[in-house]
Amino acid sequence: MPRYQLSRLEQASKVHRQFRESHEGHRPHAGLEPTRASTGVVWTTERAYEHGFLDEPEAWANLGQGAPEVDDDIAGCFPRPEQIDISNQGREYGPTAGIKPLREAVARLYNEHHRQGKESQYTWENVCIVPGGRAGLIRIAAVLGTCYLGFFIPDYTAYNEMLSLFKNIAAIPIPLGEHDKFHMSVDKIAEEIARGMSVFLTSNPRNPTGQMVANPELARIQDLCRDRATLIMDEFYSGYNYTTDCDGSVVSAAANVHDVDADDVLILDGLTKRFRLPGWRVAWVLGPKEFIQAIGSCGSYLDGGCNVPFQEAAVAMLDPPRVRNEMQALQRHFKMKRDYVIGRLEAMGFKLRYKPTSTFYIWLDLSSLPEGIADGLNFFQACLEEKTIVVPGIFFDLNPSKRRDLFDSPCHHFVRVSYGPRMDVLEKGMDAIERVVTRHREGEGRKSGQAVDGEP
Ligand SMILES: Cc1ncc(COP(=O)(O)O)c(C=O)c1O
Repeated sequence: MPRYQLSRLEQASKVHRQFRESHEGHRPHAGLEPTRASTGVVWTTERAYEHGFLDEPEAWANLGQGAPEVDDDIAGCFPRPEQIDISNQGREYGPTAGIKPLREAVARLYNEHHRQGKESQYTWENVCIVPGGRAGLIRIAAVLGTCYLGFFIPDYTAYNEMLSLFKNIAAIPIPLGEHDKFHMSVDKIAEEIARGMSVFLTSNPRNPTGQMVANPELARIQDLCRDRATLIMDEFYSGYNYTTDCDGSVVSAAANVHDVDADDVLILDGLTKRFRLPGWRVAWVLGPKEFIQAIGSCGSYLDGGCNVPFQEAAVAMLDPPRVRNEMQALQRHFKMKRDYVIGRLEAMGFKLRYKPTSTFYIWLDLSSLPEGIADGLNFFQACLEEKTIVVPGIFFDLNPSKRRDLFDSPCHHFVRVSYGPRMDVLEKGMDAIERVVTRHREGEGRKSGQAVDGEP
C-alpha cells in the first residue's frame, strides 16, 4: 500500500496504481527512502501511540525501550547532577575526539579496573569521546576499509540499519543457536575467520538475550582474533553483570588486550546505560591509537563531536572507586528486578531455558503459549491492548539484506522484555502480561472444551 494520498484520478485507475507501485521513480519525495528512517524499537513505540500511549504515558508500562530507570532512589547510587557549570570553554566547539580530561578519565578507569599490573596501559590517546553509542558505532563503521564484517543474530536492532549504510562493508550474519543459549563461541569465531571475516561486531553482554561471554572464553576469542580480525566489542551493558555476586565488577575485553596500540579491539561504552544517563549523549570508544585518531577525526564530517559541558561534568563520575560502588549498587538493584520479573513470568507458566546473566533484558520464548499469542508480533499486539509495550523478536533478527521471510525468522517466536524501568512500572507490566496470557488460555480452554463436548 502506498504511504501517501493518491489523487482521485489515480484512485479510480487500477493500472496507474500498479504502475506506481512497481516504478520507484514515480513516487512523491523522489529523494526520500522512508524505510531507512526507523528501527524496530521506534516502530513499536509508533504502534503504541496509535493505542493512546502519548495521551496518558503514566498509565502504560513501557517494557520496550532499552532504557534504565533514571531516578535517584536506587540505594547506594550517587545522585545524578541536577545542574552543571558551563565554562567559557563549553561555549566553544570542542575537539571532535573529546576533551582531554575526559579521555584521560576513561583511560584511568579501564587501567584501574581491568589492567592493573600490565605493562601496556591505555592513555588519553586510546580514547575517543563520542555523542552516544550509536554515534560511536557509526564513526567506527566510517573508518573501516572494505571488509567482510560478521555480526551475530540476534543482536542490537540499530546494527541492522547502520550496517546497511556503508557500502564498503559486506555485513555477514552469523546466526547463534537457541540450543546453546545464543552463545558466541570460540569455534564459531574460528570458522568465520577461516572463511575470510576480518571484522566482528558484537554486543557483550548481549542485547537482547541477556547472556555474555566472560573469561576465560572471552580471552580465547581475543587470542584467536589477534593479528587476524578487528573486534568491535559493544560493552554498553557491561555494568549489568549478575555473575559475580553483585561485587561491582564488570566484564570487559580491555582485560585481555596485550598491547593497547596493537590489539585490534575497539571497546564501546558510555554514560547511557550503566550510569543511567541516556539523555546526556556521552559515550566513548577505546582502542589502538591509530584507530582512535581516525575515529576522532571522522567526527569532523559526521557529528561534530560530543557537547563540551556534559563532558566536563562526566569527568568526576569516572573516578574508579566511585564507579566500583556505583556498579555494586546498580547490580544489586537490577538483579532484584530481574528476579522479580522472572518469578512473575514463571508463575504464569513461561519456561525460561536459562537465567539471563547480564543486561536488563529477558528474551522471552512464546512458543508454549496459545496459538493467537505464540509469536512476537501477535503477543506485542495483545500487550498493547493492555497498555504494555514489549519488542517483537524479529527486530533483533538483523537482516541487512532482507534475505529472509518474516515467518522463517528464528526470532519470530520471541519478544524482548526490558526490566530497565522502575519497579512500579514492572509490576504494572507483569500484571498486564498475566491478563493477556490468562485470557488467551481461557479462550483456548473453551475452544478445546467445545471440541471435546461436541457443542456448537
Ligand atoms: C548494545 C547497545 N549498544 C549501543 C546502544 C546505543 O546507545 P546510545 O543510546 O548511547 O546511542 C544501545 C542502546 O540501546 C545498545 O543496546
